[in-house]
Amino acid sequence: MTKRVFSGIQPTGNLHLGNYLGAIRNWEQMQHEAECVFCVVDMHAITLWQEPAALRAQTREMAAALLAAGIDPAKAILFNQSQVTAHAELAWILNCVARVGWLNRMTQFKDKAGKDREGASVGLYTYPVLQAADILAYAATHVPVGEDQKQHLELARDVAQKFNNDFGVELFPLPEPVIQGPATRVMSLRDGTKKMSKSDASDMSRINLTDDADAITAKIKKAKTDPEPLPETLEGLKGRPEAENLVGIYAALAGTSAAAVIAEFAGKGFGAFKPALAELTVAKLEPIAAEFRRLLADPAYVEDVLHRGADRARAIADPIMARVFETVGFLRR
Ligand code: AMP
Ligand code: TRP
Repeated sequence: MTKRVFSGIQPTGNLHLGNYLGAIRNWEQMQHEAECVFCVVDMHAITLWQEPAALRAQTREMAAALLAAGIDPAKAILFNQSQVTAHAELAWILNCVARVGWLNRMTQFKDKAGKDREGASVGLYTYPVLQAADILAYAATHVPVGEDQKQHLELARDVAQKFNNDFGVELFPLPEPVIQGPATRVMSLRDGTKKMSKSDASDMSRINLTDDADAITAKIKKAKTDPEPLPETLEGLKGRPEAENLVGIYAALAGTSAAAVIAEFAGKGFGAFKPALAELTVAKLEPIAAEFRRLLADPAYVEDVLHRGADRARAIADPIMARVFETVGFLRR
């Protein structure tokens, strides 16, 4: 089985440091090692209401952000999901493979539907099946994601396995989640027990990829911490979620380990650590923000990248879908 990487990201809200360190930076690295297919999942976005004009603008924006973060369209395939019909077609077939009981266990549906579960869209309920279709339409073997996507990846594996078993074929490889790096779960700057999220009401809880140097510095300065200095060993970070989070962010941005950061800052207070972290964060994010702004001013280029990406994506998905239709027993020419 040849290694093929697939991952997706929703075009809702701006990218933050959690997306960047938990997912995008891994994408950027993997494009040098394997065939990569990266998808802006506009069809997943509409599982919750989206203003049409805003959805189109945000799809462009997310693509621009990914390009700014280093995704190279000459290497990786970058496109938006709705341009390739295989996603919808395979999702339907896999809806007939996945079981209601499996979807009932999905925690993200429970979180997103909230109290009014009866009022949620059916699309939100089958969201994980569309995600499985995204991956399997390309027979992808590796899926770089943040930790919060683990359950959805397990479902994709279960669906692939059941399809193969039901039809007695070896069509789909079982996709492996790739959850790696020192910051697979970046936490909120206001509460070290909650993950950094675009849906947090407080903008102070997250660092956006578009924040300028002043905003980044202010957010890190005001980040919640405890009064203790940084410990001598990694063990000493246990039970100190805010300290652990900031050390993890530093390590990820510097490209070292949390242990190395502790070795450097052991015994120092946050009065010394925070300015160093702010400086590092600004240095890493400024060039991305600048390129992002440049690309936003050139929507025709971004759309062209997505169109060409969709053509390349179809070239991979079409023969796989032909085998799927044949396997399922659809009468086609
Ligand atoms: P989302 O913004 O929730 O659509 O997530 C896009 C990608 O970023 C997914 O691969 C997530 O797992 C990842 N991600 C989102 N938030 C975080 C976080 N706080 N820490 C690490 N990874 C994250
Ligand atoms: N559900 C993912 C998220 O919220 C986005 C996504 C859609 C995805 N399809 C995917 C991720 C396929 C990996 C593979 O982040």
